Amino acid sequence: KRLVVLVSGSGTNLQALLDAIDETGAEAYGAEIVAVGADRDDIEGLARAERAGVPTFVRKVKDYGTREEWDAALAEAVAAHEPDLVVSAGFMKIVGKEFLARFGGRFVNTHPALLPSFPGAHGVRDALAYGAKVTGCTVHFVDDGVDTGPIIAQGVVEVRDEDDESALHERIKEVERRLLVEVVGLLARNGYRIEGRKVVIQ
Ligand code: GRF
Repeated sequence: KRLVVLVSGSGTNLQALLDAIDETGAEAYGAEIVAVGADRDDIEGLARAERAGVPTFVRKVKDYGTREEWDAALAEAVAAHEPDLVVSAGFMKIVGKEFLARFGGRFVNTHPALLPSFPGAHGVRDALAYGAKVTGCTVHFVDDGVDTGPIIAQGVVEVRDEDDESALHERIKEVERRLLVEVVGLLARNGYRIEGRKVVIQ
């Protein structure tokens, strides 16, 4: 299967996928990363892709007259690589109708909280501020809401009294990277069906 991975930052989730495919081999893993896309330049995520010899592309919102034009351009850039599955690994933009029309049902996101709790761009900070005793990460299909699509898998992480946002986020990311590698491999190798809010992996 062909994967396109979208990033906006350090790309450690992308790196986990790159390493897993490198270690197990694309055949055995069931997928190869054919391109990495971003909404901004100069991020470690793009450098990680380049080091792995994976083609990259950048589509910045500010380069387009409207949000819809950006969304269509991003969809075009992704479609050019003919992906079977698109993975948002720390991609910090909300895609629009055009993108979902083309990739809905095969667009997966990883979120650093136990959805439906703490959706949005500050899931780690919000869980900490709320005083949650456990939080975690969620891998889900992207739908037309924000972090509201059908849940595929979740991992639980305890919150410690001494945690600040970055310490907690780092501990979540240890679980998240493993979960994402496992889920993407399963979806790629086994195939799946989405039935309402349920995801059935064959
Ligand atoms: C991940 O925790 C992701 O869930 C969140 O931002 C983080 C991205 O980390 N949206 P990285 O860029 O993969 O290191």
